[in-house]
Amino acid sequence: MYQKKDGHYRMAKKEGYKSRASFKLIQLNNKFNLIKKGYNVLDFGAAPGGWMQIASALVGDTGLVVGIDLKIVKDKFPNSYFIQGDIFENDISKKIIKIQGEYNTVISDLAPKISGIRSLDHQKSIELNYRVLELSSILLQYKGNLLMKIFQGEFTKELIDNLKNEFYYVKISKPESSRPASRETYVICKGFKKRKLKIEDIELSEESA
Ligand SMILES: C[S@@+](CC[C@H](N)C(=O)[O-])C[C@H]1O[C@@H](n2cnc3c(N)ncnc32)[C@H](O)[C@@H]1O
Repeated sequence: MYQKKDGHYRMAKKEGYKSRASFKLIQLNNKFNLIKKGYNVLDFGAAPGGWMQIASALVGDTGLVVGIDLKIVKDKFPNSYFIQGDIFENDISKKIIKIQGEYNTVISDLAPKISGIRSLDHQKSIELNYRVLELSSILLQYKGNLLMKIFQGEFTKELIDNLKNEFYYVKISKPESSRPASRETYVICKGFKKRKLKIEDIELSEESA
């Protein structure tokens, strides 16, 4: 899809960042303090590596970043590992745990292949996010943070309500670097309760399946 090379894109190139998406993580982290020095960070939907690059710099030498994506991330970042794979694979959590058992923060910039049909793109984004929540229930540590992108639509509220059951603090925030016209926004969740999560509790309602 053609994307206009706007100010944030040019600034990203000038600053040596991999993508304009880098600014979204920088702005969200400045506001919500999700990633700190020494943290273990899990990055879902990591390609082409913009968020991995920023997270790697934020966690520093004592931290760790693990990125997952269907597409390969070619660049290598300090203290970072990349797994090429589908988050819906059965053994994806085993592959992640092999590198690190628990993570302080899970970040997800996952996006479905955009069809242009809003309701469909929204539904696919919701499915990705429920899978992120399911994987986080295994991989995120008690009191950990979760950041996820959603394409807004009719099931946003249901997802937010489910997130509120699992985290003490849940907030929606659209960073300034996210195009105003785009329906994407970000959900910031802090203070993971890590109670035993019943997956059937969070499945989409029948009408949305
Ligand atoms: C907007 S991009 C992420 C950009 C990245 N945060 C960055 O800063 O460079 C969304 C990514 O989600 C990935 N993705 C979508 N569905 C996926 C799935 N089921 N498993 C793994 N990755 C997936 C896509 O391949 C795509 O690279």
